[in-house]
Amino acid sequence: MGSLLIDGIGELTTHGPQGTLTGAALVIVDGRVAWVGPSEAAPAADRRIDAAGRAVIPGFVDSHAHLVFAGDRAAEFAARMAGEPYTGGGIRTTVAATRAASDDALRANVGRLVAEARRQGTTTVEVKSGYGLTSKEESRALRIAGEFTTETTYLGAHVVPEGVPADEYVRLVCGPMLSAARPYARWIDVFCERGAFDPDQAREILRAGLAAGLGTRIHANQLGPGEGVRVAVESDAASADHCTHLSPADIDALAGSGTVATLLPGAEFSTRSPYPDARALLDAGATVALATDCNPGSSYTSSMPFCIALAVREMRMTPAEALWAATAGGARALRRDDIGHLDVGARADLSIVDAPSHVHLAYRPGVPLIHQVIQGGEPI
Ligand code: NIG
Ligand code: FE
Repeated sequence: MGSLLIDGIGELTTHGPQGTLTGAALVIVDGRVAWVGPSEAAPAADRRIDAAGRAVIPGFVDSHAHLVFAGDRAAEFAARMAGEPYTGGGIRTTVAATRAASDDALRANVGRLVAEARRQGTTTVEVKSGYGLTSKEESRALRIAGEFTTETTYLGAHVVPEGVPADEYVRLVCGPMLSAARPYARWIDVFCERGAFDPDQAREILRAGLAAGLGTRIHANQLGPGEGVRVAVESDAASADHCTHLSPADIDALAGSGTVATLLPGAEFSTRSPYPDARALLDAGATVALATDCNPGSSYTSSMPFCIALAVREMRMTPAEALWAATAGGARALRRDDIGHLDVGARADLSIVDAPSHVHLAYRPGVPLIHQVIQGGEPI
């Protein structure tokens, strides 16, 4: 693999002890960051990229995405923009389309979305199942997801399929479906919400996943207040995702826990809902991540820069907080310490941004500013 020098960096965000450097350089050896410092002091390397004053940031870590699906729900989106509410009921439409799709069609869709995300600076993406809802379909989705990422999440508990009694379905999710999913999954997730799974069912599902050796995460407090965040913190889940409707007690619980609050502003944008209170979470000391929630229903965007712009404009995060949440925060939500930062020893996942500073990610919304992506030390 050899070594690669990137010099002439106008602003280098490391998210580590070296903080933010100007006039910086970075050397990559064998896919890892090997040296960081002033451009003029940089050691020579086999290859060189001149950043020409551009900013360099860690690769985005999109810790929440539902990419294994078929079909689209543009008509549902249009109806919503004309006043229909979002209820999650459209999930069943996608389940029918996904079950009818071939492995190759699903694989092509995941590949298309992963490539689309990568062009926008995402170097790690978590991918959930959840549009299969049978043992065979959920394990198929996870097997295909595993061709693209190690961060695979079993979401058999997305909704109860039509015609199946809820208790029976929870037993399936915690039993045979879990066994079928287990070889392909790192995480288990549950949609804890009115109309999906209640808090006791969510507890049971997460416990079963933990016992099978999976890490836990949860869709919590998206459509209304509830116990989802409490269930997450009790079970030391890596992340509670959405967090749109939080009580002061939920915020305190998150702040005093090892559970990351993952905010998904693309979902509020696409469902025309109020945004989560990022400021209250940050001011209380909670760890906040930003992710896309990319899915055909509630948030059909793969763009982390778009989520950063929403977080800054609509959720009052500073540009630096939003960048941290989209990189280091996502890494925490996946319990990873090798990504989300650019300290010596980190995986060399980064983007060269066609702008002098990270602020432009929010300052220039909708503009494709990602100039070059480097993943595992290799320019893409
Ligand atoms: O995270 N909340 C549940 N799941 C997805 C929505 C899935 C869908 O509408 O297809 C979400 O928003
Ligand atoms: Fe989701």
